[in-house]
Amino acid sequence: MKVGILSGGGDAPGINAVIRAVVRKSIQDYGYETVGIKDGWRGLIDGEFIPLDLKTTGGMLFRGGSILGTSRTNPFKREDGPQRILKNVETHGIEAVVAIGGDDTLGVALKLHEIGLPCVGVPKTIDNDLAGTDYTFGFQTAVSIACEALDRLHTTAESHHRVIILEVMGRYTGWIALEAGIAGGADAILIPEKPFDVDEVCEYIRRRRRRGRTFSLVVAAEGAKPKEGEEIVYSSGVDEFGHARLGGVGYYLGKEIEKRMDIETRVVVLGHLQRGGSPIAFDRVLATRYGIAAIDLVQKGKFGQMVALRGNEIVFVPLKDVVGKRKTVDLKLYEIAKVFFG
Ligand code: F6P
Repeated sequence: MKVGILSGGGDAPGINAVIRAVVRKSIQDYGYETVGIKDGWRGLIDGEFIPLDLKTTGGMLFRGGSILGTSRTNPFKREDGPQRILKNVETHGIEAVVAIGGDDTLGVALKLHEIGLPCVGVPKTIDNDLAGTDYTFGFQTAVSIACEALDRLHTTAESHHRVIILEVMGRYTGWIALEAGIAGGADAILIPEKPFDVDEVCEYIRRRRRRGRTFSLVVAAEGAKPKEGEEIVYSSGVDEFGHARLGGVGYYLGKEIEKRMDIETRVVVLGHLQRGGSPIAFDRVLATRYGIAAIDLVQKGKFGQMVALRGNEIVFVPLKDVVGKRKTVDLKLYEIAKVFFG
């Protein structure tokens, strides 16, 4: 059997660890052949491949990014996209595809599976917003990086008696903001699931001042939106999956705070630092477990499914139960975070 592997959507620390695990188990235990597909679904439309064997996948457990490249290509938005994929798969003798991705990539995997492509999914995104799994790999690395940023901002904010706002990624959910904010001791955390009131944020800052704390740290998820407002976009236009490019809520909030209060405010947009570089140990282990489970799914012929983490168990979930069902933050966790606001 020849197994194709691709990574689609934004990269996440741990993709290479998944690829390494799929290749190792495929070749060593099942005697399969493996091939890399370049740049997500684009490579399957255009028939661009990379040889993958034990040699080419050595030494990459700790490497960030994706050795295969990635893209936000939606074959269903390209002329003859799905047909070209089916043709290329046949021409190149690929009998199964392991798709590493978030909701968009796995949504395509499901649709292609329904028209005859044998696919399995691996849940990847720093946003952790994919349904059906407790954690996507890459998320905990992003949280660690955001937490370290908060630790560093803490000392400079304190020295200058400033408010510092850290804007983090997460798209339409506040998982990164919430977990990093709790871990980094944020004085307010703004998430898309709870539209915010600028006056309330200012009240938290004032409350701290009354307690003699002359600085504050605010974490804002890029998708956080003011009450009665919309999320703030960086530029107009959408990608092939219809997503706008979010960004700017930190600066919006910084200006609003300075208008209302006599306190210097600074804004840090963490951006792609959250996605680049090495995965932390948790994500290396999770990605490895996912890769092994994914090739086991292929071996069992259980296509149209995704590997997932529930508690500490790896389980299999039908893609149709996952795709399009955004996993928003645990509001119980948000209540815990709120105890420390202000
Ligand atoms: O989905 C992952 C993610 O990093 C989001 O958190 C963010 O909104 C988006 O991708 C950024 O995408 P790009 O890399 O295209 O700027």
